[in-house]
Amino acid sequence: MSGSYAQILAQANEAVAERAATIANDRQRPIYHLMTASNWINDPNGPVYHAGYWHMFFQHNPYIADFGPMGWGHARSPDLAHWEHCPIAIMPSPGSYDGAGCWSGSVVIHEGRPTMLYSGVADLTLWSIEDDIPPSDRQRIPQGYYHEFLLEIDQETQCLATSDDKMLNWEKHPANPVIPAIPEGLDLIGFRDPFLWKEADGRWYMLLGSGIKGRGGVALLYRSPDLMEWEYLNPLYIGQPSESGINWECPNFLDLGTKHMLVVSPHGRPVYWLGDYAEHRFKPDGSPRRLDWGDVFYAPNSLRDPAGRWLMWGWMREARSRDQYAAAGWASCLTIPREISLDAAGRLSVKPAAEMSQLRTATLFDEFVGLGADEGKTLDVTGACLEIGLNVKRHDCKEFGIQFRRSPDGSQFTELTYNFANSSLRLDRERSSTTAEVTRDDCKCELLLGPDETLRLSIYLDNSALEVYANDRVSMASRIYPDQADALGIRLRASGGGANVGTAIWQMGGIWADKA
Ligand code: FRU
Repeated sequence: MSGSYAQILAQANEAVAERAATIANDRQRPIYHLMTASNWINDPNGPVYHAGYWHMFFQHNPYIADFGPMGWGHARSPDLAHWEHCPIAIMPSPGSYDGAGCWSGSVVIHEGRPTMLYSGVADLTLWSIEDDIPPSDRQRIPQGYYHEFLLEIDQETQCLATSDDKMLNWEKHPANPVIPAIPEGLDLIGFRDPFLWKEADGRWYMLLGSGIKGRGGVALLYRSPDLMEWEYLNPLYIGQPSESGINWECPNFLDLGTKHMLVVSPHGRPVYWLGDYAEHRFKPDGSPRRLDWGDVFYAPNSLRDPAGRWLMWGWMREARSRDQYAAAGWASCLTIPREISLDAAGRLSVKPAAEMSQLRTATLFDEFVGLGADEGKTLDVTGACLEIGLNVKRHDCKEFGIQFRRSPDGSQFTELTYNFANSSLRLDRERSSTTAEVTRDDCKCELLLGPDETLRLSIYLDNSALEVYANDRVSMASRIYPDQADALGIRLRASGGGANVGTAIWQMGGIWADKA
């Protein structure tokens, strides 16, 4: 690749726009989940509220719908519901400390100035992009970006970029990398994904995800007065490999008031601990717990908003074959914003941000549906982009089920069931698509209800993106790819007894300014 950095950015933005024009009418593409205009997205990066806008950045390969030369894409919102795509914030500078990737990180406001900390990856070894990418896609990536992948530890450093308040023009700092090497005396696996917060002493604290060889996944704690000079303090916490793997990506650390929450992505399902933070160490209350019970959630990132509320977004991968998403020209999206807090019982509470209700464009249904024993009722509502709210008063039913994206002949549907006998919430995708090469495994979790507690479900259906929230304490992010054009119906059923179901269904509009 030749040319100035400005040309590198322009070329990347053109690649996104060119493909965006060809994919707008794809029926599998979500309309109200944050995503790129085209091609690839993975981790949410640097969510921040500043100067009247919510900003979301994200890992973005602008050239193909697959991992590759990662820059930071950017979108912004005045209200946390409606978003607009912004130009790509940063791209790798070939041949430099971030020549193979500008990987995940954070944005904070330091002395009034938006400041980004990200992991620069100088070179990649082991896995060759050239070997792995089909020739048709390979020619879309500018030559200088052909690198090999995964990771010699000395290739990962921490880098800084700044912008004015609009966050539309980012300048990488000439002194980069600001953390050029791992702490002395540590033998590490991985060294990336800065997560930042400020403490009462006025200094910045930062976690980096890593693993200590022979010990387990670790979040390394650093401190700085100015985001430039960093002092390594100690491991915030080291996990047990049997519980949380040997390397952590994207650590997040949330002050939830009476407890702190450590979240890590250990190359499998993200986990969290609740516990206490004192003297720069975290002491968890117990074993790690799973953060989301779907099959596509990874690398969540969070922000504390001006009102003190914690919001979290996760990456929702595809659950179809690589050939399918490469051909689609886009891959993955982020979850809707989730509010994270502790409930009155000290348990983790996870629920959709209240702002999501702004996206309701029409109330399609709002009634109590009485279900007799072993009775099913098809509602007079159809849709692929809906919010469905259910309050299930069980009477004596053993299992309640809702089918959605259901074809009129009942041959295609996805079903969410709650079994009152064994307290199990289950998403069944066995018949959600006839297409080969989509994931059909169940997603399942336990949801214990108190004796008088109503089952409360919120289902966010957005073409292929699906999120389920139950009783403000369980979430499931998943994907479905219905391929029958008429698979749009909704049916409720009860078995082993009856139920009375408060049912509200809203049509959801798109989040993008040009499609609202
Ligand atoms: C997590 C992750 C991060 C890394 C980024 C690269 O999904 O592997 O550790 O910074 O993605 O895109």
